[in-house]
Amino acid sequence: MTSPSIKIVLITGTATGVGFTTALTFAGVPGKKYKVYATMRNMKTRKDELESAAGSMLNDTLFIRELDVGDEKSRVECVESILKEEKRIDILINNAAIVHGGLFEQIDLGKDGPKHFQINYFGPLRLMQLVIPSMKERKSGRILNISTIGTLLPCPFTDLYLHPKWALEGATECVAVTLRPFNVWASVVQLGAVMTQRAVQVQAASDQYKDAFLKPPNIKNETDQEIFAKHTKNSMSLFTHETCQTPEEVAKFLITVTEEEKPVLYYQSSEFARKLAAAKLVDPTGEKGAQLYEAGVLSIA
Ligand SMILES: NC(=O)c1ccc[n+]([C@@H]2O[C@H](COP(=O)([O-])OP(=O)(O)OC[C@H]3O[C@@H](n4cnc5c(N)ncnc54)[C@H](OP(=O)(O)O)[C@@H]3O)[C@@H](O)[C@H]2O)c1
Repeated sequence: MTSPSIKIVLITGTATGVGFTTALTFAGVPGKKYKVYATMRNMKTRKDELESAAGSMLNDTLFIRELDVGDEKSRVECVESILKEEKRIDILINNAAIVHGGLFEQIDLGKDGPKHFQINYFGPLRLMQLVIPSMKERKSGRILNISTIGTLLPCPFTDLYLHPKWALEGATECVAVTLRPFNVWASVVQLGAVMTQRAVQVQAASDQYKDAFLKPPNIKNETDQEIFAKHTKNSMSLFTHETCQTPEEVAKFLITVTEEEKPVLYYQSSEFARKLAAAKLVDPTGEKGAQLYEAGVLSIA
């Protein structure tokens, strides 16, 4: 069993992006303060990159395990195996998510709806259920549910990505207050734009196929096309603006959150994200968010 002074961290979705960098950053904290279980859904094709990036940290402070957050058997097996080995999980970071884009009325709610809720909402919730009993028993634990500033204002055309994130935020609030008497703290972390490898690829693709990107063939109505193009430009501008963060900045921020003695319910990973949250929260009508969307999200930067 690992020494109690070393925190056992379980992170989901570490094949790429924020999860990948967060796993490496926690594992690389001097003094081997964290032992990271970096999980991903497809070990066969995805683990090599993380293994090579981990270098000497591999199987020392960073261990790669299979976990498909949308699959119950996988969730139970992964958490149970870590608990069996370590007798505890100190920190759960629900990071994995899938995105979805398109016109609202064209969404296949029967097929894509359950899939997105399974991965972006039920998966994180179920992992919380699996780690909470042992956290409560030991009277210690931290849970971070990664969300987005997209929940702070109307952010159309990403419905099935965002709707489960909203639900996850609400669920986190409800559960969190019941955990505090056990010294178990659950928080939502709302990220702004983060320049991950995938975001770089999307930017490059959108530059190359600008017209097709802004005018997808399945959106026929001209007004819909205009709204879609306006929104897409608005969202993409976040990734080129100075408010955009690197995965490393986000990972360091997550470490500071887990180190707080009494974490709050909501964190925003950047000053820009905090400004958006502040603007939304003083306006009970929700109209401030709609105005910011109309004016371009960066008008608040
Ligand atoms: N990047 C941003 O600008 C941004 C902004 C706001 C919030 N966020 C949040 O940050 C988190 C990470 O996003 P990211 O930008 O790093 O995106 P990303 O590069 O697409 O990473 C998402 C990760 O989740 C994994 N994943 C998807 N479905 C899974 C499943 N069923 N089981 C296990 N893993 C699964 C993916 O693995 P595969 O590669 O195998 O699919 C991928 O490694 C997400 O919660 C996202 O909502 C990101």
